[in-house]
Amino acid sequence: MPRIAVIPGDGIGLEVVREARRVLEHVAQAEKLDFELKDWDLGADRFLRDGITITDEEFRSLDEDYDAILLGALGDPRVPGNQHAKDILLGLRFKLDLYINFRPCVLLSPELSPLASSEGALRLEIFRENTEGEYTGMGGIFKGDTRDEIALEENVATRKGVERIIRAAFEYADSRGRGRVTLVDKSNVMRYVGGLWRRVFSEVGAEYTHIEQDAMYVDAMVMDLVRRPGRYEVIVASNLFGDIVSDLAAEVTGGLGLAPSANIHPGRNALFEPVHGSAPDIAGTGRANPVGAIRCVGLLLDHFGHREAADRVEGAVAASFQAGQTTPDVGGSLSTEEVGTWILQHLDAAYAVHG
Ligand SMILES: NC(=O)c1ccc[n+]([C@@H]2O[C@H](COP(=O)([O-])OP(=O)(O)OC[C@H]3O[C@@H](n4cnc5c(N)ncnc54)[C@H](O)[C@@H]3O)[C@@H](O)[C@H]2O)c1
Repeated sequence: MPRIAVIPGDGIGLEVVREARRVLEHVAQAEKLDFELKDWDLGADRFLRDGITITDEEFRSLDEDYDAILLGALGDPRVPGNQHAKDILLGLRFKLDLYINFRPCVLLSPELSPLASSEGALRLEIFRENTEGEYTGMGGIFKGDTRDEIALEENVATRKGVERIIRAAFEYADSRGRGRVTLVDKSNVMRYVGGLWRRVFSEVGAEYTHIEQDAMYVDAMVMDLVRRPGRYEVIVASNLFGDIVSDLAAEVTGGLGLAPSANIHPGRNALFEPVHGSAPDIAGTGRANPVGAIRCVGLLLDHFGHREAADRVEGAVAASFQAGQTTPDVGGSLSTEEVGTWILQHLDAAYAVHG
């Protein structure tokens, strides 16, 4: 039975994970799927109370005793520099070697997109490298706080790291019948790291000749994602470029509150979290959109091989938009909990019809 650690975290993380958890428990019961859920007290409250962000023993347990993690968001204005969020989030990504950051951005209803050209389906599935690039913290300051100060931030790319994320993108496109994989880089300027990405993309791509493949410089890509997003399907990018492109893709498909993400090391562990942060400005008001977190449940079910159950969750979320049953950020008037309840009721109706 898959064991899932539930980490609501801070701010609206607690509110949206409450709804995601209700949906997961409901689907598991209706479809007779076994999941063991266990709550973890990690976040700003624990740090402020005990002075501990996360211990090595907790990292070990999350890695060895659990099959997946469902996380809300981390970040709290009471913690200077958000040290706890960095320790926990980056710690999990690096220590559990969650090298795939998968961010599907799917337009659930045409009016959700700010783009005039977005009539019809829009499905942008981003594979962001999650363990290298500028996020390794390699670098330093020389002659700090002087007029001669020098700051270095290294961009780390290994052949192993680049190859495994590119292969994951192609394998996903192949297994899901997607027609195109696009590499995003800046290899005209970043010749060494960019050159490695281009070479590996060609090598791996040669094994998938039935899939269209192209490479875009990141500046051209962000323009094109606004101009003609329907051209793109699966997108693969480094940690930094994937971060930027996926926020844009989330926005053109309805906004931050709707976007889920999965951090995965196939065969080892996975962490599911909405793309948004802890939104202190609306925490506690009941206005947080739980859809990003609920769609994480869809990704989690899919990850454990329950694709039909995942499709039902995604279908119920889409139905909530078609019925206008949404939170204020996307034009509705329901609370976080009311959206969760509407989705549960829609799932019940679907189970009653389809069994
Ligand atoms: N993965 C994470 O845990 C994560 C990601 C991003 C930011 N953060 C942290 O979250 C805190 C706030 O960061 P921020 O304000 O830059 O980003 P944010 O995503 O929390 O909020 C940005 C804006 O979007 C709105 N918003 C976000 N999620 C929403 C939702 N589900 N429903 C409705 N509106 C929503 C917020 O109200 C805010 O106006 C910071 O401490 C930051 O470090 C954490």
